[in-house]
Amino acid sequence: MRKHIVAGNWKMNKTFEEADELINDIKDQLEEITLDRNTQVIICPPFPFLEMATDYSEESYFAVGAQNVSDQESGAYTGEVSAAMLESMELEYCIVGHSERRAYYHETDEIVARKVDQLLKHGISPIVCCGEVLEEREANRQFEVVKKQITDGLFHLTAEQFANIIIAYEPVWAIGTGKTATPEQAQEIHAFIRGLIAEKYGQAVADETSILYGGSCKPGNAKELFANPDVDGGLIGGASLKANDFIGIATAF
Ligand code: 13P
Repeated sequence: MRKHIVAGNWKMNKTFEEADELINDIKDQLEEITLDRNTQVIICPPFPFLEMATDYSEESYFAVGAQNVSDQESGAYTGEVSAAMLESMELEYCIVGHSERRAYYHETDEIVARKVDQLLKHGISPIVCCGEVLEEREANRQFEVVKKQITDGLFHLTAEQFANIIIAYEPVWAIGTGKTATPEQAQEIHAFIRGLIAEKYGQAVADETSILYGGSCKPGNAKELFANPDVDGGLIGGASLKANDFIGIATAF
């Protein structure tokens, strides 16, 4: 049975003290609830707070992921962080190809593919983001756009490698805007993505792949989104910065 996953993408938010407080709050709240045994909670703080998060995670129920990784192995790449470094910190997950990185840092599908390769080489599960912008949705081009992102970013992998991939469908028009995809819109494209995976790797691999929804997901709408058969959880931005909201979403299955 594929995992339910709720992952918090903190983006570029919080200071050291604020991060400490938020992680502690999440840890405390996780102790008070009973999570579905099939649910994995992941927090993805900025790089400087990863060690703090992994320290806390040893005595809690959440796993830790990074928000980005270099597409290069090591060497003279000032400011970059390698998959080997993340592996040495025992991180289990890393977000790749977020629309903000695609838009502001020119991350192409080819770069996404190289980052995915780096992560898999170092035993880290990539959470690979895809999703269309508003004009593409208005032109009904979302399927074509997502197909290209998935094909060019991931379909060079073997089925064995692909088994470590988590996909996050994040319509760019829903990120940070308060506009959420309707449960029907989410289900339609998640089923489409699962179909692409089935075509390439077979139904068994597709059935085991967790496909998350991201974009203004909140405690108030998570339940109806997660109730869909092909929506396996969420990649949460704004609502992951408040422990109450984040835990509210993690318990929405
Ligand atoms: P919001 O939940 O703030 O819309 O952000 C979604 C997102 O980009 C998660 O990666």
